Amino acid sequence: MSPAPIIELEEVTKIYPLASGDVVALDHVTLSIDEGEFVAIMGPSGSGKSTLLNQIGRLDVPSSGRLRIAGADIGRMTDHELTDLRLKTLGYIFQKFNLLPLLTAFENVEYPYLMKHRQNDTAGVISRLLGSFGIDPALAAHRPAELSGGQQQRVAIARALVNDPAILICDEPTGNLDTKTGTQIMETLTDLNNRGRTIVIVTHDPTVATYADRTITIRDGRASLRAAASSSSWPCAASGSTSCAPCSPHSAS
Ligand SMILES: Nc1ncnc2c1ncn2[C@@H]1O[C@H](COP(=O)(O)OP(=O)(O)O)[C@@H](O)[C@H]1O
Ligand SMILES: [Mg+2]
Repeated sequence: MSPAPIIELEEVTKIYPLASGDVVALDHVTLSIDEGEFVAIMGPSGSGKSTLLNQIGRLDVPSSGRLRIAGADIGRMTDHELTDLRLKTLGYIFQKFNLLPLLTAFENVEYPYLMKHRQNDTAGVISRLLGSFGIDPALAAHRPAELSGGQQQRVAIARALVNDPAILICDEPTGNLDTKTGTQIMETLTDLNNRGRTIVIVTHDPTVATYADRTITIRDGRASLRAAASSSSWPCAASGSTSCAPCSPHSAS
């Protein structure tokens, strides 16, 4: 059976109205990402990468267009359904880790667990998860400021995974890390992808993008799709995109 699309954007536009004039951060982006894919989003600074990721993660709402996650139109979801989506289906990893500074590493991971389960983790899920990323109980008692960047990012990955989401969205997750630590984080993400998770990663680093099956390039808020080197099919055929640079002779526009 061929994989099903888990993320679908149809003509998604995001405009920030500013006194100096509208900023079109996303311009009619149409794309599709299959369950289990590892996709990199690349492009120059200010091209709309974070805006695109924030739409997928419903951290922001589009000005127009439609977005489906696992087949459900997220523009039509109730607040309760959106909270559920964020807690159960999506995991977030950011460049600056975004851990809560007053909580310990353990408590940072425990927080979304409690939000979902409404009861303490008596089964030791959190400790095991942190341990699998090299954060032992002594380290887990530290606050983020007492951990290295790599340790903080591993805690952030554990936090993103604690509710077992199908999709991980990552905005420059290695941007604040040295090369060796960044490589370890990319290997961790690859391992998670091999175990079935869909990964969407924003990066400006071509080395990071080599871990992905496919790269979506954003320029001035417009997306073009490039297939993995091994793929012989036209990417626009799979995605339904009408703005696919490699396939431009075949595209509708
Ligand atoms: N909250 C905002 N208000 C106004 N303009 C914004 C806002 N967020 C992003 N932008 C603008 O949208 C464009 C795309 O930004 P962004 O998605 O952050 O780019 P990237 O992540 O590729 O660097 C840029 O021109 C940026 O200045
Ligand atoms: Mg960005």
